[in-house]
Amino acid sequence: MIISVMNQKGGCGKTTIAVNLAAILKKAGFDTIVMDADPQLSASRWAKQGGEAFHLTVHPLDMTKGARKVKTEIREHAETSEIVVIDCPPELREPAMLASLLADVVLVPVTPSPLDIWAAEAATELAQDARELNGNNKPVVILVPSKTNTHTVIAKDLGKTLASMEGQVAPISIVQRVVLAECVIAGSTIDIYAPHSPACKEMEALGQFVLQFK
Ligand SMILES: Nc1ncnc2c1ncn2[C@@H]1O[C@H](COP(=O)(O)OP(=O)(O)O)[C@@H](O)[C@H]1O
Ligand SMILES: [Mg+2]
Repeated sequence: MIISVMNQKGGCGKTTIAVNLAAILKKAGFDTIVMDADPQLSASRWAKQGGEAFHLTVHPLDMTKGARKVKTEIREHAETSEIVVIDCPPELREPAMLASLLADVVLVPVTPSPLDIWAAEAATELAQDARELNGNNKPVVILVPSKTNTHTVIAKDLGKTLASMEGQVAPISIVQRVVLAECVIAGSTIDIYAPHSPACKEMEALGQFVLQFK
């Protein structure tokens, strides 16, 4: 199964969701790896921060190598691992299209501000285009409310606004929680850093939701 986490907007939670979701899926018993397609290599640095204790494999993926090579590399990993999570770069050019075409599921994290919601629309449309090109109902396009604050009206309204967009909305929000930033500093993932935290429960729920499309 290939899961691409995509949105051209930086800071919306792609890397946070890609790495923690992969960790949760691995903990659930699936042989899972992360492919770090962002030239900023945030996911790779996060893994490096954890050193030997970091239990998840993060492979850098140079998307500038050309579509053919990148496709082969992703497919090879998808053959040897049960689940491949691709942390996409913050742009919507060929690499994002490629990551969408190859994916079973595209997750588009979206933060609760109108500007960010409009930005996410472009990402979901690109993934929907890939779905039409594939012609086999893949990828499933899922908007994931990200960095939400449970107390603000805008977060409560986010689900309603997103529902009017293409793609489906995850029934789980990844709430803005300090532990999710802390676990990066600790070079750890949420399942290990704070296994009983609400943040971990939310990530597990997202994992369960995504697994239905495996
Ligand atoms: N749900 C969250 N709660 C708290 N901090 C978050 C959350 N999601 C992301 N962050 C923080 O926001 C910043 C941007 O997140 P990141 O995952 O790097 O976004 P992207 O990969 O889309 O650029 C990072 O500092 C990260 O730790
Ligand atoms: Mg990132």
